[in-house]
Parts: sequence; structure tokens; C-alpha cells
Amino acid sequence: MKLNEIKTDSAFDYAYLLKRIFPYIKPLMFRIIATFLLAIPLGLLDGVTAFALKPYIDVVVNGQTLDLHGYVLTRDFLAKIIPPGIVIFAGVQGILRYLNTYFSDWISLTIANNVKIDLYKKLIYLDSKFYDDNSSGLVLSRFLTDPEVASRVLINSIKTLITSFTSALGLIFVLLYNSWELAVVGVIVLVCAFVPMALLRKKIKQVSNKTTVVGGNIATAFNETHKGNKVISGYNLQEDMFSKVKNMIRETFTLQISLTKRTGWLSPIMYIIASIGIAVVMYVGNNLIVAGRLTTGSFASFITSLLLLYKPIKTLGNDLTNIQNIFVAINRVFDLFDFNTRIKDEGKRKLDFAPEKIEFKNINFAYDETKEILKNVSFEAKKGQTIAIVGNSGGGKSTIVNLLPRFYDVNEGGIYFDCVNIKDFDLNSLRDSISQVFQHNFLFSGTIKENILIGNKNASEEDLNKVLKAAHLDDFVNSLEDGINTLIAENGESLSGGQQQRIAIARAMIKNAPIVVLDEATSALDNKSEKIVQKALDNLMQDKTVFVIAHRLSTIFNADKIVVIDDGKIVETGTHEELINISEGKYKNLYNMQFKNQEEILEIAK
Ligand SMILES: Nc1ncnc2c1ncn2[C@@H]1O[C@H](COP(=O)(O)OP(=O)(O)OP(=O)(O)O)[C@@H](O)[C@H]1O
Ligand SMILES: [Mg+2]
Repeated sequence: MKLNEIKTDSAFDYAYLLKRIFPYIKPLMFRIIATFLLAIPLGLLDGVTAFALKPYIDVVVNGQTLDLHGYVLTRDFLAKIIPPGIVIFAGVQGILRYLNTYFSDWISLTIANNVKIDLYKKLIYLDSKFYDDNSSGLVLSRFLTDPEVASRVLINSIKTLITSFTSALGLIFVLLYNSWELAVVGVIVLVCAFVPMALLRKKIKQVSNKTTVVGGNIATAFNETHKGNKVISGYNLQEDMFSKVKNMIRETFTLQISLTKRTGWLSPIMYIIASIGIAVVMYVGNNLIVAGRLTTGSFASFITSLLLLYKPIKTLGNDLTNIQNIFVAINRVFDLFDFNTRIKDEGKRKLDFAPEKIEFKNINFAYDETKEILKNVSFEAKKGQTIAIVGNSGGGKSTIVNLLPRFYDVNEGGIYFDCVNIKDFDLNSLRDSISQVFQHNFLFSGTIKENILIGNKNASEEDLNKVLKAAHLDDFVNSLEDGINTLIAENGESLSGGQQQRIAIARAMIKNAPIVVLDEATSALDNKSEKIVQKALDNLMQDKTVFVIAHRLSTIFNADKIVVIDDGKIVETGTHEELINISEGKYKNLYNMQFKNQEEILEIAK
């Protein structure tokens, strides 16, 4: 389930990748073609100014007459017509350029947005395993950057490719029109000027790939600085962190400056070669003029075209380099699209009742092939019962309850609600039937109210107040200036552990689902908050079928059944009374180690 590392220099199946992005291009096809057609005159018009120089110099400056198949154009007429003509052409070109930029940006933004929307829809429905396997930074960069490159750079490159190509064509036509001998010399020299760039292309790409990797590491380090600021301060890691990031920043500098060292001389060299070309053209041109085979106007027009040709050819070179990057991006986007959730929602039955019996039957489960986590786990719960799951840390307790809402699917065996496999229920209705309080609860950025209403968007004000009371949040909320509309800091940082937990409990309560799954936090709260949280939980558990991973003595005392897990296997089941009497039993052992001292603490607290 891991995202592949896509190599930048791998050979791509270009046709396949274009086929993948085509559905996004297709609805905009008419506009795209119109934009590209617009790019043609835009490029061609570059040649017009250069072309106009010939009649201007020959007729206006040198006083020759121009005979166009019998139409004689006089000096005065051309002197009046050519200068405003050039301005008009520039105006037309300006309008075309604006339209072209506007349309191509509109198209590329639309494509990028559509790809991102579809990609997000894909991502939000992917299963937990995908998120276990791929870091947030990796997924984020694929989501934010790649669709942008895949569409924006694609459209822009094609656009400039067309403009540059037609511009070069127009200018080469002007060159040929004026003198084919000179044109051959000029074009050969100009092409030579781009040889060093082609040679360096690979090196440039290598360095820029390395820069991207280092950039990613800096982002990760920064993320850790933000999230781990308390650990950093508490363990006095500032200096370590500082030198780590400082070295990364310096490494970026070294990489970038080495790139500049390698590429900085490119432009001067290209200019030198191009100027050699112009020198040769001048020399040959002079000979042609002396021999009477070239007019001065043609010569001026020729030199201008040659100078103008430099830019489109350079752009063409850049675009051809870019194309590789575009395909890398398209490849990465559609690589992500190819992930499918492993949790298939194929069940037709709606779960709109509270099951009389919930049965875990011979369950084997592994997160990945390397390590089996649950081994032949079987137990059942009757409607309204509370099942406490206890066992060693890492034994698989959270894993068991994660199977119930199908965050992961079992490898073997199954979970049955009234003898129906949970896979046969519609997934949304299954999840609607389960209220969950996790071991680590996640609070969204937003208000307390918004975070509670996640459990039930349609809850009334009355329900909300009831839940606040039952979760013992009312005193706390009333003490806040903005009450229930108080904003929560990112990750709930502005709240105490107990407050965060009670908000999560309130969220689960307002959902009012028949099945409750509770992963009690292991972190010890003080006695008072412990009691408040316990009361809140008692309210949540009332009249529900409850699976609770118990870390509290009172929870196991109140449970109808205790399931004891040891390294993925159920070793004992029964009530506290039954289990405590098994000599050398796992539960007895666990009780003595984990729960008994709580009893003493409770005694002292009384
Ligand atoms: N998302 C995951 N991907 C891979 N392995 C996992 C994942 N979650 C848990 N594990 C592994 O599965 C085993 C069981 O973990 P689980 O979280 O179910 O333990 P637990 O009994 O809830 O422990 P604790 O009491 O400490 O919460 C552990 O060895 C853990 O390393
Ligand atoms: Mg756990």
C-alpha cells in the first residue's frame, strides 16, 4: 500500500499517461484548441516587424521603388504606413497575448482544480492502512504540487511550445526570404549555441531533484519543531534541532550554488556563440551586398530576425526539458488515483436495529504479512452487556475494536451481528451504529460545539445541553467566556487531557448509537478528573452494548464479561469473580500488577 518512489529518469509510457489525463482535458477540448490556435498568429507576428524592415530601409531610406506585381508602392506611402503599421501589429499581438494567457490560465486552473477535487475524494475514502503506510508530507506534496504541475505546466508548455515554434518558423521564413545562403549560416550557428544546454540538462535535473529531497526534509523538521515543541524544550533539544536544520539549509545552499556554478556560464557562452554567428553573418552579408546579391534592407531585416530568433529557440529548449517533469507529475498523480480502499462497501443490508448478539468468530488478523496480531479470537456480547477487554500493552486490544467499524478487515473469521457478517451491512449504516471514543481522540480546529455536533449534525439545542451535562462538561463550558462556541486550538492543545476526553465522550453520546466502543486512555488522570470522566463514561454506556478496553478498576468491576488478551490470543473470559479465582491465571496476575494498586489509591482517596 506504499506510494512508489517514481524515478525522474524512468522511461514513461507517454501514450498511457496522456490517456489517463485525457478525461480532464476532454470537456475543455474546444477551448484548448481555440487557445492553441490563438498561439499560432501570436508566434507568427514576431516575424512581421523584422519583415517590415526590408521595405522600410530599401524604399524609405534608400529611395528604391517597390513593385508588387504591377502595384508600385511609393516612398512617401510606405514612410507613412510602416511605422503606424508596426504599432498596430504590436497592439494586435498584445491583445492576442492577453487572451492567450487568460484562456490558458483558465483552462489549466480548471484542470488542476478538477484533478485535486477528484483526488481528495479518493483520499478521504481510503482506508486506515493507507494512512498508516504513507507519511502526511508525502501524501500532501502529491496532492498539492503534482496536479498543479500536471495541468498548469502541461498547458503552459504546450502553449509556449506552439508560440515559440510558430515564432521560429515565421522568423526563419523571413531569414529565407531575405537570403537563403545567410539563413543556412545563421541557423546552424544558433543551433550550435544550444548544444551546451542540452549537454547540461541531465546534470541540472539531478541537482534539482536533490534540492527537492532536502527541501522535503526541511519541511519535515519544521513540522516536528511545531508538533514536538514541548519535547524539544523539555529535553533541551534546541541546539540539536538547530544544528540539524542549519545543516540542511546549508546543504541546500551548497546544492544551489553548485548548480549556479555549472549553469551560470551557459548564458554567456550561448551569447558568445550567437555573436560569432552574427559576426559570420555580417561578414558573409557584406560580401553578398558588395556582389549585389543582397539589398541593405534585406540585410537589416535578416539581422533583426536572427536576433529575434534567439528567444523562441531558447524557450523551445526549456520546454522540451519541462516535458519530462510534467510526465513525472502526471505519473505521480495517477499513481495515487490507482489506490483503492481495501474496505469494500458491498453489503446491501441496512443496519437500522440494535443487534441482539454480537459475535467475534475465529478471527485472525495482521496489519501486514510480517506479523500476525490476532490469533483465533472468539467471544460474544449480548445486547446491553458491557464487555471489558484487558491485557498486556501491545497485545491487540485496540486492534480488536478497530475491526468493529471496519477500519481494517479481518484476514480470517468474521464479526457477526445477529448471525449476519458485518461485511453484508452497508458500511455507512454499520458505522452509524457505533459510537467511538478512541485511545487518542482527535479534535478538529473549530469550536467545542462543532466538535460535539460531529456526532449528530441534526441534534437540537436541548440534546446538546443534555449531553454537556451527562459528559460533565457543563461547568467547564459555562466558565468559558465564549461558552460552547469557544475555539479549540489545533489538536486540542488549549484543553486539558480530561477536557479533551470529555468532549470526545460528548461527541459519542450525542450520536446515540446502540453500540459503544471505548478505548480508555492509559494516561492517568488525577482522582477528581478520573471520577468525572468515569461518571461521563457511565452515562455514555447506559443501555448500550459496550466494548471497553479497560484500564480502570471500576470499569472491570462493572463489566458483564472480561476478555483477557495476551499477545493476540484470548486466554481467559469471565467475570471478575470467576477470573480472580483461577490460580496462576493471567487475569489474576494482571489484576495484581495493574488494577490492585488502583484499589489501594481509591481506598486512600476515600
Ligand atoms: N496501524 C498499525 N500498523 C501496524 N501495526 C500496528 C498498527 N497498530 C498497532 N500495530 C501493532 O499491533 C500490535 C497490537 O497493537 P494494539 O494497538 O492493538 O495494542 P493494545 O493492546 O491496544 O496496546 P495498548 O494497551 O498499549 O494500547 C502491536 O504490536 C502494534 O505494534
Ligand atoms: Mg491500545
